[in-house]
Amino acid sequence: MTLFAARGLVKRFGGVSAVDGVDIDVADGEIHALIGPNGAGKSTLVNLISGLLRPDAGTLTLDGADLTRMRADRRVRAGLSRCFQVTSIFRDATVRDNLLLAVQAHAGGHFRCFGVRDAEPALREAAFGLARRVGLEADFDRVAGALPHGAQRKLDVALALAARPRLLLLDEPMAGMGPDESARMIELIAALRRDAAILLIEHDMDAVFQLADRVSVLVYGRVLAAGTPAAIKADPRVQSVYLGTEGER
Ligand SMILES: Nc1ncnc2c1ncn2[C@@H]1O[C@H](COP(=O)(O)OP(=O)(O)O)[C@@H](O)[C@H]1O
Ligand SMILES: [Mg+2]
Repeated sequence: MTLFAARGLVKRFGGVSAVDGVDIDVADGEIHALIGPNGAGKSTLVNLISGLLRPDAGTLTLDGADLTRMRADRRVRAGLSRCFQVTSIFRDATVRDNLLLAVQAHAGGHFRCFGVRDAEPALREAAFGLARRVGLEADFDRVAGALPHGAQRKLDVALALAARPRLLLLDEPMAGMGPDESARMIELIAALRRDAAILLIEHDMDAVFQLADRVSVLVYGRVLAAGTPAAIKADPRVQSVYLGTEGER
């Protein structure tokens, strides 16, 4: 079943159509990867989906709800969560406090049923559960800014999960990671498909082809091809883009 759909999305900057009529579907339980050369419009598309930018045309729906004119914070409540490449982390606070804040922010009425006296243990349990979900339970009391880069990225994922999203937007989660950290992040993302559908923007082709159920290839603001990893790998148009015979400006 289609969970998320972008239809005819357009975003222009002056004379440049950074996103030029893009359709993308993400099904329930799916990992959908978005790839494309530099300047293809990936970041613009992510910003349109998360609500940092408004489209000039097109629509966005999540689970039947129209997100197109919804503010970014409302989109989070509607079930769309984005990882912000560690910028959402409070570096001077512990992993525990980062997660407690996130859990509290998204709890809404969820923890009220426990009553005032029991609310704190419930919040702590939820925070620790998130740490465990991303493999940070041993770092729970450490200051976030002192963690290695890979662990900070995991914390960022846990913060996004605190909103209990239906769709998780992952913008280059492997950026700046060495091979070991990348491998662990790939394992984590593969496990996250139980929690939410995922739209994964990623440069690392090995990661994309390991993780994705479907891949969309963005070039010059348009979807050049969409399909299974095998079909995308075999597509001569995609190959020509990644051999550099196209995609350069
Ligand atoms: N804020 C902006 N103002 C003007 N042009 C922009 C802006 N953001 C992106 N662009 C242009 O839009 C195109 C797509 O950029 P971007 O979405 O960053 O691509 P990608 O993330 O795939 O590298 C590029 O030509 C870029 O120069
Ligand atoms: Mg980009």
